[in-house]
This record gives sequence, C-alpha cells and structure tokens, in this order.
Amino acid sequence: MTGQRMAGAPASPPDAIIVHPLAGRALQGCVRVPGDKSISHRAFLLGGLADGSVDVTGAAASGDVLATVEALRRMGARIDANRRRASVDATVAGPLREPGDVLDCGNSGTAMRLLAGVCAGIPGVSVLTGDATLRRRPMDRVLVPLRAMGASVDGRAGGRLAPLVIRGGRLRGIDYRSPVASAQVKSCVLLAGLAAEGRTRVEEPGPSRDHTERMLRYLGADAGVDGDGAWVRGGRLAARPLHVPADPSSAAFWLVAAALVPGSAVRLPEVCLNPRRLGVLDVLRAMGARVAAEADREWCGEPVGDLEVSGGRLGAGQVSGDLVVRAIDELPVLAVAGAVGGGLVVRDAAELRVKESDRIAGVVRMLRAVGVAAEEAPDGFRVAGGGLPGDGRVDSDGDHRIAMAAAVAALVGRAPVTITGVEAVATSYPTFLDDLEALGGHWEPAPRLDAGDDAGGGA
Ligand code: S3P
Repeated sequence: MTGQRMAGAPASPPDAIIVHPLAGRALQGCVRVPGDKSISHRAFLLGGLADGSVDVTGAAASGDVLATVEALRRMGARIDANRRRASVDATVAGPLREPGDVLDCGNSGTAMRLLAGVCAGIPGVSVLTGDATLRRRPMDRVLVPLRAMGASVDGRAGGRLAPLVIRGGRLRGIDYRSPVASAQVKSCVLLAGLAAEGRTRVEEPGPSRDHTERMLRYLGADAGVDGDGAWVRGGRLAARPLHVPADPSSAAFWLVAAALVPGSAVRLPEVCLNPRRLGVLDVLRAMGARVAAEADREWCGEPVGDLEVSGGRLGAGQVSGDLVVRAIDELPVLAVAGAVGGGLVVRDAAELRVKESDRIAGVVRMLRAVGVAAEEAPDGFRVAGGGLPGDGRVDSDGDHRIAMAAAVAALVGRAPVTITGVEAVATSYPTFLDDLEALGGHWEPAPRLDAGDDAGGGA
C-alpha cells in the first residue's frame, strides 16, 4: 500500500477492528464520500498534460490517487496540493518529461496503466513499479497496444508483469480492438494517442467507464465516440478547472447498508451519476431497494447529483453481461446485499480475479467467514440469501473493497465481525470508519492476539 502522508490527513485506523451490528437501529444522516478515484487520477494526469496550470478541486486524497500525484512530480509536474481530510485541492502544471526516478504506482492498477500510456508518449525511458499485488496483475493488456503504436515496452515474466520499462516517443495512431472491456486499457491507449501522429481509436466488448473520453472533450481535445469505440487525435489540451464529484463506488457501501436496514434514510450528496458507474443502482433496484438519484449538475463533463436511499427488505439479484462492467467494483458489497436479501448470482465476471485481489475467492471467503453459504464459479459467485449471522473474522488480504464490504456485513449482520488489514481502506476511502460512525454504526480496535493464537491479524 502507498504510504504518502500530507498535512491534514486523518489518523490511520488500527490494523484490526471489531465492527458491531446495528442490532435494530437504523442508519441515518448525510455523508459526502471522497472524490471519485477514477476521475481524480484523470484530473491529475490530464492536468499535467494541459497547456498551463489546472486547478483540481475535491480530488480523493487516497493512497491510489496520491501515487499518481507523486509519479507526476517525478515527471516534472509542479503540483501544489492542499489536503482537507479525505480530499485534496491542487494546482497542476506540466510539462511532463522523462522521469528522474522509478515511478511507484503503489497498489493502483489505474495509476500504472494510465501512466504507461502517458509515458509511452514522452521521449526517454520510464520505469513503473508497484506493491506486491500490483506486480502480479496483468499488464500485457496495455503493453500490446502500446507496442503497436511504436513504443518500446518490456516487463517481467516475458513482458507481462511490472516492473515495466517504457521507451516512449514517436507514436503513431492505431485502431485497436481490446479483448477486455476495461477503462484502464482504453484510457491508456487514448492517452498515448494524444501524443501520437494521426487518429487513435479503441473499441471494446462492453461499456467500460468513459471518464477519459469525457474529460478529453471537456479540455478541448479533438476526441469523440462512435458506436463501440472512442477516438482521439494527437494534440493539445486546454487548461480548465476540474471539479471532482463524489465517488459512486464509495457511496455504494452506504447504499447497500442503508437499503438492507428497515427505517434507514441516508443522503449522499454530489455523487458522480455517470450511467456507466451506476450498475449498482440497477442491481439494488431490481432487488427491491428504494434509491433516488437525480443528476442536476455537470462537473468536468460528468453528470452529478445527490443519492437518497431508504431501508427495506430486498429480494434476489442477478448480475451478468454488460451490467458486470457497470458494477465491477461494487460486486463485493452487492454480495452482502444478496446475503441479507434473497441471494445473488454473479456471472461473466472473471475480471474480478485480477483486481486488487482475486475478488471471486475473496468475496466467497469473506461471506463464509461471517456464516453465509457462498460458492465460487470460474467467472463469478453464488450467494445464498436469508440472513447474515456475523460473528467471524475477515482478513482484507490488502484489498480495500473487501475490507469495506466486510464492515457493511458486520453492520447488517447479527453479531460483531473482526476485520484485519483494515488500513487498506485508505486506498480509496481514508475516512470510511468516520463515516460509518457518522451514520450510526460503531467500531472499536480489536484486542491484540495472544502470542499463541493464529498469526496474521493483530491490532
Ligand atoms: C478503473 C477501471 C476499472 C475499475 C478500477 C478503476 C479506472 O478497472 O475496476 O477500479 O479508473 O479506469 P478495469 O478498467 O481494469 O476494468
């Protein structure tokens, strides 16, 4: 995990905590979750590529985004940042040039894959690395198109894994058909395309998030979308302010928790309501949840509005096909909704195996640890519904979304849950535990394990 610290950062939580069930109480209140992680990465990256200085406000001050900020500094960007708890306001100014040192992307796949595209367009050599998890995640998906554009790129394990070595510059535009529906792949190629000669187009098999396309157009790039493709012509970006909306993937934890507890009423303001991020609403509504969402603003090309959810009883849910792409990061917490509601079946989601952890195995392990019957499939999982006993111990395996999904499981279950590796929440949502308290939940540090007990957790 990246450990960058800035003045104003919230204190890190203890490594192991106990989260208590709501036990008949409801979740009530309003929390402004941190800025959207995907949009924050892009705001800093595109800000660094723009002509002039760009003001970025409301970006997530999370470990992943701070890794992108540090990498850009190593590429010569001037970034004056001012942190307020979970968010950061900054002025970003390029130009970007060959980095003077290795770029450490920490735990962040988005940082590594998007930076790979930027580095491919910069003359000179860039070396990108990350933590042990990131160095196991597939990078050939971005290296193949970058090679086709003329960059010289190499990696460990036959050129598939980080650390990556990129010799950039002199790119040509390509028409690329990606075998995976991945916004990271699409964005990598489009960012390289911005530095390439001619037009670059990417087509993908499903509707992945389109924040890069929206921000490129907002900053005046010659870019567009057609059918299943997105394209950009090599060129420059205008310096315009970028205001980052709240993250729907972070809001999803409270949407699920409140939807499952009768009497709950939670408001989540200023959330990015991009339809490609809202598969979680479609799934929850199909299970019977009452969620209101109205986009009444537009920030940096993104629809923005408040979410309001009220509690009740949920039925069964199913996620497959394109809905998987639009709910990919929310599937761990939707599994908790399935456990308390009428069950959940997820198919066509093999991509979950190459996220921050193998999230198919991780979700099933987490649910079993809290007494829920769940089964793995090669491309998904099946969760039995009907209630969540709790009274278990879950290790996050370093994965922020597993840690937060386990905390939601504890709130809506029948007995407390101990969560180890909870500091992983700082990857995307450093103030998660404060917000849990603000909405009426309760957690405490877990007692240290005795020397004779199983190793692994410990406060
Ligand atoms: C992201 C894209 C998704 C998502 C990740 C963030 C992005 O990954 O899971 O958390 O910001 O582009 P893939 O593009 O690999 O599906």
